Amino acid sequence: MSSQKNEKMEAIISLAKRRGFIYPGSDVYGGLSGTWDYGPLGVTLKRKIMQLWWQHFVESRDDMYGVDAAILMNQKVWQASGHVDTFADPLVEDLKTGERLRADHLLEDAGYDVEGQTMAQLDELIKQHGIKSPSGNELSSVRTFNMMFSTTVGPVADDKSVSYLRPETAQGIFTNYKNIVDNFYPNLPFGLAQQGKAFRNEISPRDFIFRSREFEQMEIEYFVRPDNWQESFDALLKDIYDYLEALGLPSDKIHELDVPEADRAHYSEKTIDLEYDYPIGRKELLGLAYRTDFDLKNIQNASSKTMEYMVKGTNERFIPHVIEPSFGVERVLMAVMENAYWFDEANDRIVMKFPENIAPVKYAVSPLLKNKPELVAKAREVYAALKKKYGNVMWDDNGNIGKRYRRQDEIGTPQCVVIDFETIEGDGTVTVRDRDTTEQKRVKLDELI
Ligand code: GAP
Repeated sequence: MSSQKNEKMEAIISLAKRRGFIYPGSDVYGGLSGTWDYGPLGVTLKRKIMQLWWQHFVESRDDMYGVDAAILMNQKVWQASGHVDTFADPLVEDLKTGERLRADHLLEDAGYDVEGQTMAQLDELIKQHGIKSPSGNELSSVRTFNMMFSTTVGPVADDKSVSYLRPETAQGIFTNYKNIVDNFYPNLPFGLAQQGKAFRNEISPRDFIFRSREFEQMEIEYFVRPDNWQESFDALLKDIYDYLEALGLPSDKIHELDVPEADRAHYSEKTIDLEYDYPIGRKELLGLAYRTDFDLKNIQNASSKTMEYMVKGTNERFIPHVIEPSFGVERVLMAVMENAYWFDEANDRIVMKFPENIAPVKYAVSPLLKNKPELVAKAREVYAALKKKYGNVMWDDNGNIGKRYRRQDEIGTPQCVVIDFETIEGDGTVTVRDRDTTEQKRVKLDELI
């Protein structure tokens, strides 16, 4: 990672905090590693990204059904899905400080390729290359660490009451597959979609919101005929690109990785990861996996309830196979912020060039001078009308007009509307200043509102 790229990441993290997008979680108490809180602008941006996804993958299609399952689920879900046994990362400990670290990350940071390596091979590599902890101390052997957060449900804490904070939203979809089939009789192929929180006790959360312990996913389980999976896989991949384009992410920053078998999740027969050129390097943005009938078969075996789909008007029955697009909201958000960030050298300013459809603030409205009641009154009127129409409109009368423009540029507000004497005494026009070009136009109020 070049220092220039590090600088960009640092600048984005600093702007995110300074302008009310994203704060470190529990900051006032010294923080809680791997957690982040969203401020007014961050929550709006995140919701817009999630709403656009819902609109794109659910509302605009007639083969998708939305669900919103509970985060806490019966422990049998995670036994049947394989998460209790296999949802683990390679852990090493600093033998002096006890610090826990990810073996693969230490090797990667030292410049070694760890793709497809087993735990034993990682252990071998650590020893072979004499890898030390960041404090320069010897490391323990590599062992597996299950990433699920466990808890107990109800007043008695015993083996039977153990549950987990879900590490993926997918299982809440699979467990509702039968409900939807019985209630809605969908034709194959069809999909169930869910957005919501997921939790992973990451050994070393890092890189801002990229690897957190609490994050959000947007997932689809798309049920298909077993012999038809490739067609749906390709169609969903195209839909994913369309969604990323609607977010303004350029295709030359997105790269496909056909994940080798050794690196695929235990349930996947094929996975394509879409990687993005983040300031921290090229990293996984989202995944598209062919999960076969792995999950429905396991649910059928563990629950003794049939997961078979019966083709309407025939006696044909089978367990559908599944294609799964899985998005991490924070990774999409981080890509959107990376792509929006622009240091405009000519004007010595930072600009977040968010596309208009997801910009957290659409218009900022100000009176040119805040000590002129007639300007303030008119500006309030314009603000109220725009707010009623668009919702995400900001009142901004702090500092002089130049400072306001700088602030709104950093927030990514596409247009600032300024009410001056010409508005009230002249032709009823306002100044509309463009974020990207800094050009100012006079626009008739009627046209604007
Ligand atoms: N249901 C499949 C599944 O969960 P995954 O590759 O483990 O697959 C899917 O996760 C997506 O969730 C990733 O592509 C990434 O965008 C996001 N994700 C995973 N772990 C994350 C973490 N610790 N912090 C932020 N996002 C994460």
